[in-house]
Amino acid sequence: MEMKGREIKSGVRWVGAIDWDRRLFDELIPLPDGTSYNAYLIEGGEKIALIDTVDPTKEQELITNLKDSRVERVDYIVSNHAEQDHSGAIPRMLELYPMARVVTNTKCASFLKDLLLIPDDKFLVVKDGETLSLGNKTLKFILTPWVHWPETMVTYLVEDKILFSCDFFGSHLATSSLFAEEGEKLLEGAKRYYAEIMMPFRTVIRKNIEKLSGLKIDIIAPSHGPVYKNPAFIIDAYREWISDKVKNEVVLPYVSMHGSTERMVSYFVELLIERGITVKPFNLTKSDIGELAMALVDTATVVIGTPMVLAGAHPSAVYATYLVNALRPKLKFVSIIGSYGWGGKFVEQLKELLSGINAEFIELVIIKGYPENEDFKALERLADEILKKHKELV
Ligand code: FEO
Repeated sequence: MEMKGREIKSGVRWVGAIDWDRRLFDELIPLPDGTSYNAYLIEGGEKIALIDTVDPTKEQELITNLKDSRVERVDYIVSNHAEQDHSGAIPRMLELYPMARVVTNTKCASFLKDLLLIPDDKFLVVKDGETLSLGNKTLKFILTPWVHWPETMVTYLVEDKILFSCDFFGSHLATSSLFAEEGEKLLEGAKRYYAEIMMPFRTVIRKNIEKLSGLKIDIIAPSHGPVYKNPAFIIDAYREWISDKVKNEVVLPYVSMHGSTERMVSYFVELLIERGITVKPFNLTKSDIGELAMALVDTATVVIGTPMVLAGAHPSAVYATYLVNALRPKLKFVSIIGSYGWGGKFVEQLKELLSGINAEFIELVIIKGYPENEDFKALERLADEILKKHKELV
């Protein structure tokens, strides 16, 4: 068989799809740089395996790539993860290659049965550490749960030392380059991906990286974004993100209706800058939530700014606070600043929304109306307190 196309190594090829135009994932996550769904074809001496598939919207591109590769048959479809952007084309693959078996772990098989109605007899279920020979190439399956679903696993191609990591180490980045071009753009795409998808599982990621540390890995081939010929680039970035280290930073998501909270925020930003603290304000009516998520990866402190609306926090502040809680950043300190007109409660409401965050609440600055001298002084005390707390971290 002659194999053409985007070759990674002899007998190993990218056959996925690039989604240049996609701007939203899970109807939630902004994708300013698009994404890709990487599927890989491995031709062994005896068997042919497809590693993951593509989003169903890109099914035809996968089929075209397989045709261009002159594939006569596929023996195994390895499913590292049941989410549909990788598994959604499996039913179509099974129609095209009816003799193929879906190779995955017990939990993933169960999900695929539920989500895609794949029948029982189509599966070849493997255990953690089990291998599958393709002839002169061997696949090893390693369970890496919760990166980012409970069934996630990675596949290691033993002879070529390639790790097919699916979402793990991925980046939402559409690029015509098969291999990673290391630099800020790639790092940002990978960090955005980590922040939005992986950050809530920081502790388990650490365990999974340790689990993989015994493998000699020459290439990491994730299922989103480019392929890494230098695995240390992305592994080192992950080690930094999952570490307990935080930066001397304040992330400040805020919203203001009539300018009172905005004035507090602008004054507070200046105070932080004067004290040598990096500050990242996010006006929630104008900000990309993904940028906010990225900023949360290594900040020491979050300060939420909100006015009172209908006896509670502004809905945009509620949404941002909910996201902070859901993304579980490693931040150490939280505070709230804001203004109200006549009454209501938002401190209790926002504190409750942050119940999953293991951070210390420091002095809050909640004022009535437009800020006056004593309110500015309160903001100065808060800035001083943050500086003191950050210094204690070093
Ligand atoms: Fe790329 Fe969890 O799917």
